[in-house]
Amino acid sequence: MTTASCDHPLDRRSFRAIADLAYRESGLTLVKEKSSMIQSRLRPRLKVLGLRDFAQYSAFVQSDAGEDERKQLISALTTNVTHFFRESHHFATLGNVLDARMDDLRKGARMRIWSAGCSNGQEAYSAAISLLERCPEAAQYDLRILATDIDPQVIAFARRGKYGERLMAGVSEPLRDGYFDAERDRKGERQFTVKPEVKNLIHFNELNLLSAWPMRGSFDVIFCRNVVIYFDVATQTSLWPRFLKALRPTGHLFLGHSERIATPEAIGFCSDGPTSYRPL
Ligand SMILES: C[S@@+](CC[C@H](N)C(=O)[O-])C[C@H]1O[C@@H](n2cnc3c(N)ncnc32)[C@H](O)[C@@H]1O
Repeated sequence: MTTASCDHPLDRRSFRAIADLAYRESGLTLVKEKSSMIQSRLRPRLKVLGLRDFAQYSAFVQSDAGEDERKQLISALTTNVTHFFRESHHFATLGNVLDARMDDLRKGARMRIWSAGCSNGQEAYSAAISLLERCPEAAQYDLRILATDIDPQVIAFARRGKYGERLMAGVSEPLRDGYFDAERDRKGERQFTVKPEVKNLIHFNELNLLSAWPMRGSFDVIFCRNVVIYFDVATQTSLWPRFLKALRPTGHLFLGHSERIATPEAIGFCSDGPTSYRPL
């Protein structure tokens, strides 16, 4: 690979082309004010590809040959910040949902949870640990978590399920002991790998929320938190009825702390506590 000089700034035309592409491919809305962030996140891609400037990059990423690069672009531009037991009240509600469905599960019923926009996996693992805390024999039942994200890199990370000390904030000592295998890496830093009994409850997969959803059967709980905040109103509005359709009549949709459905009743949802919605 050639390493080219990449000192050229992101020009207006390339910004527009990249922003339009990101919007079309993933729903991400990139405003002009984010231009320097985009520039710094994409500069390494120019280097890897040996391209001179953003005009060349934007031409390449839009071309037929740029199909793989479009994934790299989305991966570079998405924000993957997440942590274990983020907005913990949702995990308490998840425990209540499990309690309410326990009799059904014992009779062989199915219960499904979806972490939509799961990033590095902490949300899905937090859900699995919450379920196991309430029901250590969860694996015996038809109880599974689907965890999806548009970004293949975070899905690969999530599948590995290995977290450094810094990423373990929010996981208490008893939970670390119960659900993770700890080891020291070559630098002597502690690494925590999620135990197989937790991983086995989860299926990680790539999925763009803007594409068709191939899943059959409905969900008891959908976590789609801190994802739609990066979408414009039109994209958000197109997702709400799809989530409603994907939920059981007694299901729950959880959004992030700064996300709201503007008129839930108009869509068929009612509000059920902060950032939590249920079918009407
Ligand atoms: C800030 S993280 C949120 C992670 C987690 N849900 C949480 O609340 O901690 C947002 C995630 O949404 C994903 N994302 C963005 N656009 C998406 C799309 N169109 N389809 C699926 N995932 C998307 C990103 O790749 C990123 O991992």
